Amino acid sequence: MTATNRIHQLRDEIRRHEELYYMHAAPEVADPEFDVLMNELKALEAAHPELLTSDSPTQRVGGRPAEGFATVEHLQPMLSLDNAYNQDDLRAFDERVRKGLAIETSPAYVAELKIDGLSIALTYDEGRLVRGATRGDGSRGEDVTANVRTVRAIPLSLKCRPPGRIEIRGEIYLPKKAFERMNQEQEAAGEPLFANPRNTAAGAMRNLDPALVAKRGLSAWSYQVVGIAVGESEDSPLHSGMLQDLKAWGMAVEPHWRECAGIDAVVAFCDEWRDKRHTLAFETDGVVIKLNDVAMRERLGATSKFPRWATAFKFPAERKIAMLHRIEVNIGRTGAATPYAVLEPTVVAGSTISMATLHNPDDIIRKDIRPGELVIIEKAGDVIPRVVGPAHPEALERPAPWLMPTACPVCSSPLHKPDDEAVWRCENSSCPSKLRRGLEHFASRGAMNIEGLGESLVAQLIESGLVKSVADVYHLSAEALEGLERMGRKSAAKVMGEIDKSRRNLVWRLLYGLGIRHVGERGAQVLADHFGSVADIQAASLEQLQQVHEIGPVLAEAVRTWFDEPRNRELIARLQAAGLTLTGERKVAPVGPQPLLGKTYVITGELSGMSRDDAQAKLEVLGAKVTGSVSKKTTALIVGTEPGTSKIEKASRLGIATLDEAGLLILLISPTS
Ligand code: IVH
Repeated sequence: MTATNRIHQLRDEIRRHEELYYMHAAPEVADPEFDVLMNELKALEAAHPELLTSDSPTQRVGGRPAEGFATVEHLQPMLSLDNAYNQDDLRAFDERVRKGLAIETSPAYVAELKIDGLSIALTYDEGRLVRGATRGDGSRGEDVTANVRTVRAIPLSLKCRPPGRIEIRGEIYLPKKAFERMNQEQEAAGEPLFANPRNTAAGAMRNLDPALVAKRGLSAWSYQVVGIAVGESEDSPLHSGMLQDLKAWGMAVEPHWRECAGIDAVVAFCDEWRDKRHTLAFETDGVVIKLNDVAMRERLGATSKFPRWATAFKFPAERKIAMLHRIEVNIGRTGAATPYAVLEPTVVAGSTISMATLHNPDDIIRKDIRPGELVIIEKAGDVIPRVVGPAHPEALERPAPWLMPTACPVCSSPLHKPDDEAVWRCENSSCPSKLRRGLEHFASRGAMNIEGLGESLVAQLIESGLVKSVADVYHLSAEALEGLERMGRKSAAKVMGEIDKSRRNLVWRLLYGLGIRHVGERGAQVLADHFGSVADIQAASLEQLQQVHEIGPVLAEAVRTWFDEPRNRELIARLQAAGLTLTGERKVAPVGPQPLLGKTYVITGELSGMSRDDAQAKLEVLGAKVTGSVSKKTTALIVGTEPGTSKIEKASRLGIATLDEAGLLILLISPTS
């Protein structure tokens, strides 16, 4: 056999195994056998470089990390979908469709699972993958071709080579297993956890190093072709035919889609998948319903945002009934006492829930949640589980209502609640629980950044009595650490080195690490910049504090109160004696690493995970500028929900990149990636 023939044979065979493994989860061969084929192909291509092509399976990860992503235009705008939340919404959609088409009976639809990932537009030229782009603002996205090529469910060349240039739309997603694995790695590295697979996939896709993206285990489903008429069945193209064509070309098509003869069948499909979705290997947040007949779709057209021929049914938050065993109270860093529910472990939305937050005591009373009876619990997608209320509020015999404890469950000091606040607090400044959370915060990455001083070591230090105040950290010895569990000589020396290094931190890190109420990273930086030293902040009057730009009355008061407390003054004195840097430079510009220096962002719309002020402060801390209007100088427009259309249009006109909230989070977490 000639080298050319063998190379072709190997490529086909490898692609077949990739499909079996990555699309059908049904491998025929074990990894070592697959590697043998791949190695043979690599060797042949090395011996015959003239036969190497860019669509060879050996060429998935190529090139060096990029500087950034270019903005590219989509063949047709990538529209979003209107939402339906219940049966009535679905029937209303059907009615609009029938009215628009002037037909009596409900038409045929295709129902597909809505994949919770990020949409992607793949361009194939004469059957070869030439470009992969994110949705961006719908008209223009980011060119992420190098990253897309690493996703093995996406073929580098199509089987039947449809002629010309076509764009295939789909969704890149992170399988649940890969998500769990990534979060385990994050946890082990002491990094913040990812909220959900979607954000994680979006973050991975925006990584500038394809070699790293390749390791993430991303996958993809495709569901639409733009550019040519496909799915021909006699004279009327159908969406179902297009899905079959996609599959025949070697694209991964989520297999559970169904042709529905009318809206009743669609409703049944949505009902059926409400629970069954948890058995899938990927997250789905709903069902996409599409008119099957392509000619009918064209008659209906689209609004500026949505096609009129499709809608997205969103699964409701899943609810379950569970026994509420107890309500316990957690004492946070500031002494805030937060009740939480201890539940009989119950599977909700695919994960086992045994605890749920309960906000504050007033909320528990208002909802009449009582320990010792069944309650309704709820979890929606990435949302933290919550207790909705009692399952049987009308029952004749119910346990006694819950009462907020009057004493701290950890140190037994009385709990206090100021009249104008909903939160109860333990005021004992040496409460072990406060100390524990306080020390965790002090050592955390954003504050003093003492690597190795995490939850488990903090707990041991406090339990063993080695640390009774944050200042004690600076009097620890390597020998004392070595006496603790899982602390060898090497790790002890490493932690000691980290502790020593933190003595030279910038002042704002210490100020933030002290955990003064209302003093976040930004506030700490502003204070440090203005006053220069901890001593000057301590000496400042309430008026002087309030006069500082960006420091409001609440923050000023909290700072004053903290420094008025003799114990806290003593802590500062001890930290000074331990050799910590308490004096820095006075300056106006914020300090700290500034990887986003020179970049300018504009925020539009509401963000769900933080306020816009918070987002602005966080970006500024990293050196970025945040302005109110889009211009040529804007690096990217950050788009939340209900954004201003003029900002989006202007960004699109000027070719300015856009970031959604997931993208923003990634930018904040790793601004240099
Ligand atoms: S079709 C014009 N089908 O959902 C129709 N979208 O909320 C375009 N999505 O931006 C989309 N699974 O990223 C379609 N089976 C599916 C989908 C799907 C997930 C995403 C897609 C879109 C968003 C709309």
